[in-house]
This record gives sequence, C-alpha cells and structure tokens, in this order.
Amino acid sequence: MTEHIKIENRDHVLTLTFARPDKKNALTNAMYGTLADAILGAETDPAVRAIVLRGEGDMYTAGNDVGEFAMMATGQFRGERHVSRFIDSIARSTKPMVAAVQGRAVGIGTTMLLHCDFVVLAENALLSTPFVGLALVPEAASSLLLPLRIGYVRAYEMFALGETLDARTALGIGIANRVVALDKLHAEAASIAARLARQPAGSLAATKRLMRNAETLLAQMAAESSIFAERLTTPEAREAFTAFAEKRQADFMKLAS
Ligand code: COA
Repeated sequence: MTEHIKIENRDHVLTLTFARPDKKNALTNAMYGTLADAILGAETDPAVRAIVLRGEGDMYTAGNDVGEFAMMATGQFRGERHVSRFIDSIARSTKPMVAAVQGRAVGIGTTMLLHCDFVVLAENALLSTPFVGLALVPEAASSLLLPLRIGYVRAYEMFALGETLDARTALGIGIANRVVALDKLHAEAASIAARLARQPAGSLAATKRLMRNAETLLAQMAAESSIFAERLTTPEAREAFTAFAEKRQADFMKLAS
C-alpha cells in the first residue's frame, strides 16, 4: 500500500486516484502494486460493479517515474516489478473501467486509456506516448491497440515523435467518449460509473470478454516487455534518463549507432 494511491469504495464503485501531485502523479512501482492489488481484488468482489481511474492535481499522470526507469537501467532497482501486474490487471479486468483525465496523460497514462471502457476527458486533456523520446518502446499492448484504434500513421507519429493529442482530436479519433469542462470531469465520470453499476454485471463482463481478447493483449505485452527491458540498458536510454534528471534535451545524435 502507498499513500500515493487513494482508494474509495462507495455505492459499488471503486475509485482509484493517483495522488502524487507534486510529481505530477508519476507512477512508482509501489503505486503500480497498489493499483494492481485493487483491480485484481475488484475482479473477484461482486460488490464492485465499476472502477474509476483518476488523478489529483493539474494532470492525470506524467507516466512512469523516470527516476525509477533510471534505477532499473543501472541495476539499482531491487524487488518485484509491479508494472507488469498492473498492466495485466487492466488487460484482464472484466469490470467496467472509467477514466477521468485532466491535463496531461503521458506514456502509460495514455496507454492505460486503451484498456478503459469509458474515457472522459476534460477540455484541457493532452495525451502523449513519448516512449521513443526516452529511447524505449511502447508498452501495455499499445503497439497493437493504438494503431488499431487510431490508424498506423497517427499512432506512429505519437510513438516516434511524441506528438500530443488534444481532447477534441482524441474524441474525434475514438480514444475518448466525452469531452467535458474541467469542473464537470469527476462528476461526469462518477455518473457514468453509477449508470454502469446499475447494468447487469454478468452481461457487462461477458460483453467485455467478447470485445477484448485478453490472451492476445497479454501476448503483445510479453513481446513488448522483453524489448522494453533490453532498451532500458542501452546508451540511448542512459542519455534520455540523464537528460531528464539534468532538465535538458537528450542528444541522441552524439551516440554512435
Ligand atoms: N517521473 C519522475 N518525476 C517526474 C515525472 C516523471 N515521469 N514527471 C514529472 N516529474 C517531476 C519533475 O521532475 C518535477 O520534480 P521536481 O519538482 O522535484 O523538479 C515535478 O514532477 C514537476 O514536474 P515539472 O516538469 O516541473 O512539471 P511541468 O508541468 O513543467 O511539466 C510534464 C509536466 C509532464 C510535461 C513534464 O514533467 C515531463 O515531461 N515529465 C516526463 C514525462 C515522461 O517522459 N514520462 C514517461 C513516459 S514513458
């Protein structure tokens, strides 16, 4: 458990809030662990009929904690890696998942939306997947799901150049269900979750299983994870993480290919 994830279970809706606003809700291993436990627990808890994911402060999440990436790259990171459990849990979940996104959703902040069933964006939402800019590769089956959802060329642009999608564009190309004013965001997500919670849970779960093939997603994630792990230890990744820590632009052209 970490204080950086707030868990609320009320009226059959489990609300999980990323609560590390001073670091823009960057997700740590401990946060992934708590999220995975909560989502896996919800799967077998009939009292939970919908799940809401949201972030505190001015953005949804700045993605994976880059400092932890750097620790993994240098072998300083010990213990179980919970990110895999988290992405497995969202790929397998048969409960309706609703995301409420304000400000930026970077990296896994955006790729987790591809596993949500209902995505509500505030007008100021900005989605990006800058894995290549960090010398990494896409994760959470997004190398499969993003091109399927928005087409190859747009997905490539988002991955390769870190191109950002604003809320209206994301709505137009099928990443989101709704765009609402920022001050209405959490109420709208709560209201959709409450509506989903009133639907027949068995039918919702069966529908989701028909619409999403978890096994295909898990196979893609496994392929991505092994390449991701290799990429973490490259000189390119070292340059990217060092540049982030030093608050400067990475210079990949100085590296021999
Ligand atoms: N990992 C670790 N720390 C992060 C972080 C991340 N992904 N994103 C932000 N932070 C930290 C910053 O280092 C800063 O910490 P400090 O106050 O100790 O210096 C704090 O959060 C505030 O971030 P800041 O960059 O000042 O906020 P901003 O509003 O100017 O910019 C972002 C927000 C998200 C555009 C910018 O922080 C960013 O690009 N973060 C990295 C995103 C990323 O590459 N994620 C991984 C994707 S795979």
